[in-house]
Amino acid sequence: MSWWQDAVCYELYPRAFADSDGDGTGDLAGATARLDHIAGLGADAVWITPFYPSPLADGGYDIADHTGVAADLGSPQDFDELTARAHRLGLKLIVDLVPNHTSDQHPWFQEALAAGPGSAARDRYLFRPGRGPAGELPPNDWQSAFGGPAWTRVPDGQWYCHLHAAEQPDLNWRSPEVRQAFTGILTHWLDRGVDGFRVDVAHALFKAEGLPDAGPGQHRDPLRNHLMPYYDQEELHPLYREWRTLLDTHPAPPGAVAPHERVMVAESAVFDPTRLARYTRPDEMHQAFNFAFLEAAWEPGELRRVIDASLCAPGGGAVTWLLSSHDAVRPVTRLGSAARARAAALLMLALPGSAYLYQGEELGLPQARIPDDRILDPLWERSGHTERGRDGSRVPLPWSGDRAPYGFTTADPDRTWLPQPDDWAPHTVAAQEHDPHSTLTLYREALRLRRDHPASDPTAPPHWHSAPGDPYLAFRRSGLTCVVNLADRPLSWTTLGVTGRPVLASGPLDGDAIPPDTAVWLLDTTPEPQSLEVQSLEVQSPEGDGHGRAH
Ligand code: GLC
Repeated sequence: MSWWQDAVCYELYPRAFADSDGDGTGDLAGATARLDHIAGLGADAVWITPFYPSPLADGGYDIADHTGVAADLGSPQDFDELTARAHRLGLKLIVDLVPNHTSDQHPWFQEALAAGPGSAARDRYLFRPGRGPAGELPPNDWQSAFGGPAWTRVPDGQWYCHLHAAEQPDLNWRSPEVRQAFTGILTHWLDRGVDGFRVDVAHALFKAEGLPDAGPGQHRDPLRNHLMPYYDQEELHPLYREWRTLLDTHPAPPGAVAPHERVMVAESAVFDPTRLARYTRPDEMHQAFNFAFLEAAWEPGELRRVIDASLCAPGGGAVTWLLSSHDAVRPVTRLGSAARARAAALLMLALPGSAYLYQGEELGLPQARIPDDRILDPLWERSGHTERGRDGSRVPLPWSGDRAPYGFTTADPDRTWLPQPDDWAPHTVAAQEHDPHSTLTLYREALRLRRDHPASDPTAPPHWHSAPGDPYLAFRRSGLTCVVNLADRPLSWTTLGVTGRPVLASGPLDGDAIPPDTAVWLLDTTPEPQSLEVQSLEVQSPEGDGHGRAH
């Protein structure tokens, strides 16, 4: 089995993790100093979101130099120290690769603006003439994922495509120069010793030839994403096979224990499980985030359908689960309570495959409300101030103390990268560290049990004990049974016929009674049931925009 197939990976958002130099913004040295928190949690890997030079029009996903380090976060040497410390702690380090677009301040885009229509420099991006008698209309009807048209006009009359903010022009992936440059970027970070890449917007690099209209309903129904002319094009897959070969053949760093396997994880907003599984065929990416699970309502039928459909998707390998990310509303808020978020964590961590945790999830942080004048997310402006965006899940972590900045920085609380709420004292790492009932302790115990009782095959489906219409979920894998009560009254596992010794629960149990919105793990040493019944059912169209986004 490969390390990544059942790995738990911790997403680190560097500007909000820990500040070492007192400027109020988290940085690489701060992350290095606090990496033991992640190792102590029991994670196997860290994925660090962009730390590259950026004008920060989109939280660092607008990159001006893909091989540099942003000055406010540190230096290349700080990055090397972070990598070395991670490896000493037994953690793999995954970095973000953002190939769909650059910053508008990237030298390539500046060159393209200066060079004018028809130039080779413009051919690295998607510049087109407009429609209408004077070219005053965008070249097609594509909408930005952040709202408004996906096109902006430049002074000479041409338009350029941007599926996100206007400060993030999309690259032309049919340009050999772009392809070659990214081979160089991957090689650069592999040479620096990273263990893999999280590939940003992995579903959008290629746009359909001729850039046809997308029609109505864009970004409305995630299950239709793969039908959009700017998403899920066939040419993506040969590219990912090329990158896979690069990862597989790049020399292992000195002293690496063989096999030294590096990974790619797709951020692919493709919700049809069969289409998503194509990104993780054996010679493509290793993992693809399962956003259908993140989006699923706290409802047994929907969760069951999403889980079964994900596990049954043909040829896709192990599933990669997640409940939160820097783009999603925090689970405590999204699911409606801390109890549900804790139960959801035990559900996720009992499923076969790997899981990604997002910083602060292990502390049970709720979504924070950011005052209007502190909002950074471009969604706020692009939506005409109707969508507050994702900043509420990007607030600096509370480490200790009873008031902001909670040990995150030595700067004044009003100078932190996004303001922290006044009532987060009970959420700090220090407050939860030794509390047996805290969310931090729950995550640590869950990860310890996963490690101590590894399930045999991360691609084998679980044995379902519950039926699709039941108001609870119950399944067993390698001696561990997980029961989640989604009903509004207590549920006795003995009455259900579930055997075993409870080893972890997301809330207090009353004998064998599981309260509503609570999950329990039971260990049983009797032999595994023989029949594996997994139903292949349709995934229901999830609510929302496909990212659980706060807008
Ligand atoms: C991905 C990132 C998100 C960013 C977008 C554009 O979805 O996770 O934060 O805004 O790509 O780069």
